[in-house]
Amino acid sequence: MQKKLLLILMVTVTVLSLCLAGCGSKKEQGQEKTETSSEATEKTEEGNRFAKDGADMQTEDPAMPTRIPMEGGTKINMYFGDKVIPGVLNDSDTAKALIEKLPITQHVSRYSHDFCGVTEELPYKEEEVHYGWLNGDIDYATDAPYFTILFEDEDTSEQYGNQVNIGVITCPLEEIAALEGDFDVRIELAEEEEKPEQSKKKSIVAYFSRVGNTDFPEDVDASSSASIQADDGTIKGNAQMIAEWIAEEAGCDTFEILAKDTYPVDYDKTVEQARDEQSEGTRPALKTELENLDEYDTVYLVFPNWWGDLPMPVYSFFDACDLSGKKINVFVTHEGSGFSGTIDTIKELEPKAEVTEAIDVRGGSVTEEEKTIKQWVTENQ
Ligand SMILES: Cc1cc2nc3c(=O)[nH]c(=O)nc-3n(C[C@H](O)[C@H](O)[C@H](O)COP(=O)(O)O)c2cc1C
Repeated sequence: MQKKLLLILMVTVTVLSLCLAGCGSKKEQGQEKTETSSEATEKTEEGNRFAKDGADMQTEDPAMPTRIPMEGGTKINMYFGDKVIPGVLNDSDTAKALIEKLPITQHVSRYSHDFCGVTEELPYKEEEVHYGWLNGDIDYATDAPYFTILFEDEDTSEQYGNQVNIGVITCPLEEIAALEGDFDVRIELAEEEEKPEQSKKKSIVAYFSRVGNTDFPEDVDASSSASIQADDGTIKGNAQMIAEWIAEEAGCDTFEILAKDTYPVDYDKTVEQARDEQSEGTRPALKTELENLDEYDTVYLVFPNWWGDLPMPVYSFFDACDLSGKKINVFVTHEGSGFSGTIDTIKELEPKAEVTEAIDVRGGSVTEEEKTIKQWVTENQ
C-alpha cells in the first residue's frame, strides 16, 4: 500500500515538472537541471507560432531587455526585498486585469532563465498566446497559470509555449539575473516622476496697444491712423497683432495692459497726452492685473514706441509686476525709432530679469512680418 502511494506521488511530481514549461529549470546549489516540454518542441517543429510575437526589438544594447517597452504603458515597480526591478505593462487584456489588482504580492522562484511563480487566473486572448520570449519579457504563462519574468535563453525559448506577453522589465537584464532564491515580490504601480519645477512653467504675452486703450466708434476708418490695422473686418492695433502671432506660435495666453482711462480717439490728441504723461512721469492706473505671475517663466512684452520710450501704462505694468528671475522678450512696433532706449529702461526697471531685444516692427508693414515673428519665437523657446 505504501509502495503504491509512493508511486502515485512520483508520477504526480513528474507530471508537474513537465508542466513547468514557463518556468525553466530550477537553479539549485549552482546546478541546473534541464527540463523541456517534448510536447512544446513538437508543436514548434510543426511550424506553430513561436518566439518573437511581432514585438519591437532592440538589438543595440545587449545589457538591456530585447523588447522595446510600449509607449504609454503602465509603469510598475517589483520589489525583490530591497531590490527594485522596474517594468512597464502593456495594454493587453491580461496586463490590464493584473493592473486592476495592483498592488499584489507574487511569490516567485529563481529558475534557469526566469523568476516564475503560480499566479491567479487572468483573462487572455487566444491569439496572443505564443511560443518563446524576448529576454526581459514579463509573461503570463497560461498553463498553471504562471507569472514569469524571463531574462535569459531567448534563443532557445521557442520550445516553451503558453506565453502571453504582458510587459517588459526596464532595467539591465543582469540586475535581475544577479538575484537568487525565492521572493515574495511586491508589485506596485510606479509613482509618476515629479517633473522639475522649472519645466512646468509657462510663458505669456503681455501687450499694450492703442486700439484696446481707445474707445473708437464702431465705424472708425481703419486707414485713418497708423496704429490701426484692418484684419478680416476687425480693427486691431499693431502691437496686438504681433502679440497674437507670438501667442499662436508659443501656444500661450495673452494679457492686455489696459489703462483705466482710455486715450482720445483723435490721434494727435493721444500723441499730446502721451507727451504730457511722459514729461510728468505719470503712472496711469490700470484696469487689468496679471494674476498668477509665478506660473510664468517667460514674458513676451509687446508695445508701441511712444515718444522714444515705453507708453506710460507699460511703466505702470512694471510697477505692478515683479518679473525678477523671468525672461522678458521685448517686441516693439514704431514708425522709425525702433527700440530707442526701451531695452535699457526695462533692464533698469527689472534688474533681476533676463531682458532680450527680440524684434522691432514698423507699424506700416506689420502685416508682412508674421513669419519673421513666429520664426523668432520658435528659435528662441
Ligand atoms: C502717442 C504716440 C507716440 C508715438 N511716438 C513714436 C515715436 O517716438 N517714434 C516712432 O517711431 N513711432 C511713434 N509712434 C508710432 C507708433 O509707435 C506706431 O504707429 C505703432 O505701430 C503703433 O502701435 P499700436 O497700433 O499697437 O498702438 C507714436 C504713436 C503714438 C500714438
